[in-house]
Amino acid sequence: MPDKPKYHLTTPIYYTNGLPHIGHTYSTIVCDTIRRYKRMRGYDVVMTTGTDEHGVNVERSAKKAGVPESEFVAKMAAEWRALWDELGVQGDEFIRTTDLKHAHTVQWLFKQCRDNGFVYPGHYTGQYCIYDNAYVDVKPGENCPDCGRPTETVTEANFYFKLSAFQKPLLDWYAKHPDFIQPEARRNEVLSFVEGGLRDLSITRTSIRWGIPVPGEEPHVFYVWFDALTAYLSAVGGPQYEKTGFWPADVHLVGKEIIRFHAVYWPAFLMAAGLPLPKQIWAHGWLLMDSAKMSKSLGNVVRPRPIVHVLGMDALRYYLLRETVFGQDGNFSYDALVQRYNSDLANGLGNLASRTAAMIEKNSGGKIPKPAAFQPQDITLATKAQAAIGEVLEQYDNLGFSLALEQIWSLIAATDKYLTTEHPWSLGESDADQQRRATILWTTAEVLRMVTALTHPVLPESTAKVWSLLGQPGQPGSIALDDLSWGQLAPGTPLGKSQALFPRIEKVEAIERMESMENEAQKQPSPVTAPATPSAPAAGGATIAAAPAAAEKIGIEDFAKVEMRVGQIKTAERIVGADKLLKLTVDIGTEIRQICAGIAQFYEPEKLIGRKVAVVVNLAPRKLRGVESNGMIVAASVGPEGRPVLAGFPDEDVEIGARLK
Ligand code: MSP
Repeated sequence: MPDKPKYHLTTPIYYTNGLPHIGHTYSTIVCDTIRRYKRMRGYDVVMTTGTDEHGVNVERSAKKAGVPESEFVAKMAAEWRALWDELGVQGDEFIRTTDLKHAHTVQWLFKQCRDNGFVYPGHYTGQYCIYDNAYVDVKPGENCPDCGRPTETVTEANFYFKLSAFQKPLLDWYAKHPDFIQPEARRNEVLSFVEGGLRDLSITRTSIRWGIPVPGEEPHVFYVWFDALTAYLSAVGGPQYEKTGFWPADVHLVGKEIIRFHAVYWPAFLMAAGLPLPKQIWAHGWLLMDSAKMSKSLGNVVRPRPIVHVLGMDALRYYLLRETVFGQDGNFSYDALVQRYNSDLANGLGNLASRTAAMIEKNSGGKIPKPAAFQPQDITLATKAQAAIGEVLEQYDNLGFSLALEQIWSLIAATDKYLTTEHPWSLGESDADQQRRATILWTTAEVLRMVTALTHPVLPESTAKVWSLLGQPGQPGSIALDDLSWGQLAPGTPLGKSQALFPRIEKVEAIERMESMENEAQKQPSPVTAPATPSAPAAGGATIAAAPAAAEKIGIEDFAKVEMRVGQIKTAERIVGADKLLKLTVDIGTEIRQICAGIAQFYEPEKLIGRKVAVVVNLAPRKLRGVESNGMIVAASVGPEGRPVLAGFPDEDVEIGARLK
C-alpha cells in the first residue's frame, strides 16, 4: 500500500501570559476540524500547537506572581494543554518554546542564516511595544499603532537580520505562489507592505534576560518572534525535519493581526537558511464582542468552558464555524449561539436522528429496513445527497466551513420535508404500504449516514453517537470520504444504543448559566498564584457544580439563605449591544440597587417605572455584558422560549423592602 501523503498544519503558538478565550479556541477548533477532515481524506496528518513562553511580558508576569519564569510558564502551559485536552482539540504535537529541542532548532536556524551572510551586529534605539513584541514606528511617549498600548524606548546591542535583501525574493515567491497568502485581502496587504521596502530586523535582544541564548554571544537572547516562529519547525524534527517528512508545513493558520510575521519575516528567515517555505499562510478574522476584538486587555473575553459545560463542545464548534465566514470577522453572541443550538442542532440534526431511529425501531424491529422500488421523490433526495458530497468537500478544501455546513443543513431540511410529504407514519399494514415505508425509512437513514460522515470534522462527539445509533462499525473518523457514496447503508443492520443528542434548552436559562459561570471563573485566582489544590478547577474555568436534579428537595434552611425583598423600579434603560438586557435601578427599601434583567424583549423600559417586583438581594454582584448587576429580579419563565413574566403584587400595595418568605 502506498504511503499516505503527509499534511502538517499549525495553530499559532500562544502566549502564556494569559489563558485561552474563545478567540484562541476558534483558531484551535478550525485547525482541529481541518485535521479531522484531512484524515478522512486519507492524509497522514500532524497538527502542531504550543505555547510561546519567552519575552519581557512573561518576565514581568512571573515577577508579579513572585515565582521564577520557568515555574510561571510551566503552570500556564499546563493550563493551555489541559484545556485543549478537555475540549478534544489537543493536536498531535504540543511544542513549548522552552523545550530544549526547540532551543537547539532556533540556535541552528540562526547559525544557518549567519553562515549564509544574512546576520550582522549592530545597535538599535526605538520605541518597543512589549505586548506585541515589536519595535514600532512612533515617537517616544506615543502609543503602539497596532494595539494602542504605551511603548517604551529601548536602546540595545543586537544582531540584525538582512530582511532588506529579501524584498525581491519574497515578491517573486508571492507571484509564483498566488495562494501562499490567504485570503485575498491579506495577500494584498502583505504585498503592499513588502513593495513599500523592507528594513533590516533586529533578531536578538540584550535588554531581555528571559529568552533562548545566542550561543557564544551572551547576553544576547533571541527576539521572541525569531524564537516562536521556529517552533513550527522544531515540532516536526527541527534540523532533522527531513526524517519526519512533515516540513514544509502545509498551512499555518493564524489570526489576521500576525500575518506580517508569518508571511514576511518567517519565509525570509527560511530563505536565508536555505530551508523550504510553508505552502500557505491562512489568516482568519477576529471574534468580536460588541464590535470590538475580544481580548484580555479590553476585558471583553468569553471563555470556552462555560459554553462547553452548558451546550457541549460540538455546539461551540458548530456555532463558530457556521456563523463566521472564514477569513472575516464575526460577532460573538450568547443569544445567537443558543439560537443556533436549538434550531440547527436540537431541531435539525438531533431531531432527524431521533425520529429516524424511533420509526425504524417501531416499524422495522430496530433493523435498517430493506428498500423496495424507489420512486422519483426518493431519487430526488438521493441525487441531492450524492451531489452534496462533492460540494461539501470542495467547501472544506477551501476552508469554507460556513458554506459546507449550509449545504449539509439544506440536505437535512430537504429530508425533513421529504418525511413530511411522504408521512411514513400514516401508511398502513398492507404489503405495498410496508414496502413503501421501508423505502422511505431506508432513504432517510441513508441521508443521515451521509450527513454524519460529512459533518464529522465539525461535530466529532455527536456524529460518533449518530454513527453508533445507525449501527455502523468503528468511528466516523475512520470513514474514507473519497469512498462515500449513496446506497452503502446495509439493510438488516441492527441499530445501536440511542444516546442523548442536543437536548433542547431554554434560551434565557442557558445564557444565565453560561454568564454566571463566566462571572465565577473571573473571580478565580491566576493558576500561578493559586494555592496548589489538586482537585481545584483550572483558572478561567467554571467552578459551578452540576445543577441539582429537578426532583431533589432542599430544607427550609437552604431556602432561607435566599433573601428576597419587594423592590420598586426607579429607572429602566436598554443596554447598547445587549438586546435582551435592561439596566434597572431598584429601590429595595434600604438602598437603590443597579440590576440587569433579561427582559428587554418583553417589557418596554418606560412602562416599568414605579412597578413593584420581587428582588433577590443577597446575590453576589456580577457583570452581565460588562454592566454591573447587584441582585436579581424574579420572573416566571413561560413557554419553550422562556418568555419572562415578572413576579408582582397586584392585590395589595405592599411596602418597599418587605421580605418574601
Ligand atoms: N505568540 C503569538 C503567536 C506566535 S506564532 C509563531 C501570539 N499569541 S496569542 O496568544 O496572542 O495568540 C494570538 C492568536 O490567537 C491570534 O492570531 C488568533 O489566532 C487567536 N486569537 C486571539 N484573539 C482572537 C480573537 N478575538 N478572535 C479570533 N482569534 C483570536 O500572537
